[in-house]
Amino acid sequence: MEIIRTVEWMKQVARAAQAKERLVGLVPTMGALHEGHLSLVRAAKKECSPVVVSIFVNPKQFGPAEDFQKYPRHMEQDTAALEVLGVDYVFAPSVADMYPDGFRTAVNVEGLGDRLEGRSRPGHFHGVATVVLKLFEIIQPRFAYFGRKDAQQVRIIQQMAGDLNLDTQVIACPIVREPDGLAMSSRNAYLNGGDRQAATVLYRALGAMKKEIEAGELDAARLTATIRRIFETEPGAAPDYAEIVDADSLEPVIRLRKTCYTLVAAFVGKTRLIDNALIEESGDSFSVNL
Ligand code: PAF
Repeated sequence: MEIIRTVEWMKQVARAAQAKERLVGLVPTMGALHEGHLSLVRAAKKECSPVVVSIFVNPKQFGPAEDFQKYPRHMEQDTAALEVLGVDYVFAPSVADMYPDGFRTAVNVEGLGDRLEGRSRPGHFHGVATVVLKLFEIIQPRFAYFGRKDAQQVRIIQQMAGDLNLDTQVIACPIVREPDGLAMSSRNAYLNGGDRQAATVLYRALGAMKKEIEAGELDAARLTATIRRIFETEPGAAPDYAEIVDADSLEPVIRLRKTCYTLVAAFVGKTRLIDNALIEESGDSFSVNL
């Protein structure tokens, strides 16, 4: 496994792979890798060679009051785990190389990025779309793998890739959870004992909603009321939003239809966590995938 530290070097390696008609796969990350990231790498390894994992804590997607400085950075551990999985290249550029003085461009996927996470974290998705477009341009992967935990992020990147006729296919992979249901996230490392227990409320709330859908409830207001009720039982967590939205437009729905997401966000102590359920029509009923 080779660790590539500059944009120019990464471009050369990627262009050489393409010249040999190799199927380049990319797993974009900000490091502090957990089993969720590793599941993306395994998916990439099944379909692609070479596999590139980018590790870049992207300053442009953090707000001024957010955790850019303290975001966990574990380069040695991360590269050791990636080596075991047979990753070919780790792309770990510096901030100065990705955003040299005078950098002025921001990618805006209109409409999809202002709501939900975008409302609570203004500018976040401009930062995400900008860095992902740069990564796609530098590495030109045929497939890029993202976790469905960040469902809004995946939807925005898919829209961007389509709108800009990029040759990269964006693949959404299932959420990986801890045994108690907490969705894996690098930010879980911030949770201390009490907060760690309280954090399971996102999964518990989605689970309660799932049961109601399986019992035939289709009304979005009643389903989100159930989620809010579960949050009220957990004093350690402060909900931000719980919305059921169309999976394509990300606009709220009144009744379940076709494919929807229930997206939830909450603060547990100072840590902001998100989670979601994918709701799909199957015959006369709906299946809920946590
Ligand atoms: O999901 C993440 O870790 C980041 O938002 C991403 C896609 C690597 C862009 O910085």
